[in-house]
Amino acid sequence: MKKTFGIIGSGNIGQTVAHHLLKAGFSVVLSNSHGPESMKGIIKSLGAGAKAGSVEDAAKADIVLLSLPWSEVSSLSGVTDWSNKIVIDATNHFITYSPDFQVADLKGKSSSQVVAEHLPGARIVKAFNTLYFKILAEDPKQGGGRRVLFISGDDTSSETEVSDVIKELGFAVIDLGDLAHGSKLQQAKGSVATLNLIQL
Ligand SMILES: NC(=O)c1ccc[n+]([C@@H]2O[C@H](COP(=O)([O-])OP(=O)(O)OC[C@H]3O[C@@H](n4cnc5c(N)ncnc54)[C@H](OP(=O)(O)O)[C@@H]3O)[C@@H](O)[C@H]2O)c1
Repeated sequence: MKKTFGIIGSGNIGQTVAHHLLKAGFSVVLSNSHGPESMKGIIKSLGAGAKAGSVEDAAKADIVLLSLPWSEVSSLSGVTDWSNKIVIDATNHFITYSPDFQVADLKGKSSSQVVAEHLPGARIVKAFNTLYFKILAEDPKQGGGRRVLFISGDDTSSETEVSDVIKELGFAVIDLGDLAHGSKLQQAKGSVATLNLIQL
């Protein structure tokens, strides 16, 4: 049986990734801070395989996607036992969007290292954070090639699992290395942030 993804944050990125996962036959549990009732319309529009749940329900799924605002990541520390859980970090560490895009001061760490500190024991894989959601939503198979998604992480088995899922969704994967270095290239204002590549 295919795995279930728990999606924490069901806005632009959460729904976009949910759509790709559902198309590939995975199940998703979507959550937000306002509770399952507030997501009825979203669940209806996503269709079969999508359910609404609490943040705790989503955190218990086989694989968890973080697609909530940076400012809210610290609220997740106690919602479950994160030990060994595969957590895909799609967040970007923006603290303002207007009038300009400002990022949090991470004191030399990568944003996913900071996420890892909030989710003790989780196996973090950074992915789905580099593309504007409307580009991510498009068919990944383009011009005879596949749109590239970057990943990075410190744990080989979780990186392999996430990479296999992303390939199943139709994307190509480029692994940039560990959270200390690779994810810095990937995160907001990093070298490959917003880069929209097609691998032929
Ligand atoms: N937009 C993009 O193109 C894009 C691209 C790459 C990465 N990202 C990153 O992805 C993350 C989400 O961005 P977005 O554009 O999808 O934002 P969004 O459309 O505003 O959605 C954010 C979602 O998070 C939920 N949320 C807020 N606080 C929460 C909490 N404490 N617990 C659980 N859910 C919570 C919101 O619902 P409630 O307010 O109802 O709780 C909403 O469903 C951000 O970190 C962003 O930097 C965005």
